Amino acid sequence: MSKKITFDYWDHLYSNRTGHMVSSEIRDLLSLSARPDIISFSGGYPEVRALNSERLERYARKIIKTDSEISLQYCGSDGYYPLKTKLIEVMKLEGIDVVEEDMIITAGGQHALDLLAKIFVNPGDTVITESPSYTGALNSFKSYEANIIGIPVDDDGMITSILEEKLKELAKKKIKAKFIYIVSNFSNPSGVTLSLERRKKVLELAKEYKTVILEDNPYGMLRFEGKSVPTIKELDSKDDGHNVIYLSTLSKLLAPGFRIGWIVAPYPILEKLVLGIQSSVLCVSTFSQRFACEYFSDPLWRDNIVKFIDIYHKRRDTMLNALENYLPPGSEWSRPKGGFFIWLKLPEYLDTRKILADAVRNKVAFVPGSGFYPENGRGLNEARLAFSTESTERIELGIKTLADIVKEKIKLYKSFK
Ligand SMILES: Cc1ncc(COP(=O)(O)O)c(C=O)c1O
Repeated sequence: MSKKITFDYWDHLYSNRTGHMVSSEIRDLLSLSARPDIISFSGGYPEVRALNSERLERYARKIIKTDSEISLQYCGSDGYYPLKTKLIEVMKLEGIDVVEEDMIITAGGQHALDLLAKIFVNPGDTVITESPSYTGALNSFKSYEANIIGIPVDDDGMITSILEEKLKELAKKKIKAKFIYIVSNFSNPSGVTLSLERRKKVLELAKEYKTVILEDNPYGMLRFEGKSVPTIKELDSKDDGHNVIYLSTLSKLLAPGFRIGWIVAPYPILEKLVLGIQSSVLCVSTFSQRFACEYFSDPLWRDNIVKFIDIYHKRRDTMLNALENYLPPGSEWSRPKGGFFIWLKLPEYLDTRKILADAVRNKVAFVPGSGFYPENGRGLNEARLAFSTESTERIELGIKTLADIVKEKIKLYKSFK
């Protein structure tokens, strides 16, 4: 085994971009959360064990037996056409009506975000996100040296009055935002959903200020309660249809291991994205795409969504109840109607990065809030709790443990006052 070299001999050779690929001080702590003895609220991991393994085996066998000439070969950089047809059916369930030529397949949602940043962002360009926002997106935008402006969210999602003020301010300085990135349903990390009124307003603002909306929607189909809200993409399609780039992923509808996502966009944008795919991965795994095509050709896939919803619904309820039962006064949290995440706010004097260290010692992990903010120094007393991964029993125990640590920290703080 090679010895770990800590001195970076090649430091003088790296691109400037590498310096913008942010590292995380909490990564080491969080890497521990993969240990089975740790109750992990950190990663948004779907419950892949709920998939029917016999069925998956049957699909894989069929593909190898009857279709290996296609499934083991390269495919077009824009994606495997029959999978596009299936994904169009999936999107129809969310009110989105497109054709195969309107979309490309990517190696997951993260790849989609990276490609979009690659084709839109020059160093120093301004992009707008929710604040807090999905760290994977923030990191990707930062790696292309974007100047990220965060717009605060409340229970109805991005606050559009603040967005409007910001866009006005930018226009006065002759700065155009390259895009507005929004996770419209059960956002990662806040769990909130953008209201219909605000979806319309964001669209109106994007048109007025001639910028594009990146609507990222991995969780929209995982709704436990309430009525679904039309996607911004659907609202845009009723008009000229040029203002929204829609992206999603199979990571939460099937499994992240297949690494499949997709982008719906006007053709000139797709053309550039395909060039981006050609210069990075050539094409997305044909086998994965072929497999996903088989999976979504079997009507039983919809039963699995029902199963996923039931599992996550129970886990969300357990986490909400446990937070209510154990967390001390002064703590607040979001109440998502779907998705994977609850956003926790503790009293302002507490630092969740320090609480994480104690929590991991007590075999519980979560993600401190600061990494989800585009601005430095925000969210120090906040945290993202994923309820998707652990059983209800472990969620109850994990929240109780976390609450005991929080109570202890509050006691300590008050003893010094
Ligand atoms: C909002 C959002 N976008 C994109 C992704 C990336 O997903 P994928 O696994 O498809 O790369 C995630 C993953 O958690 C996410 O929460």
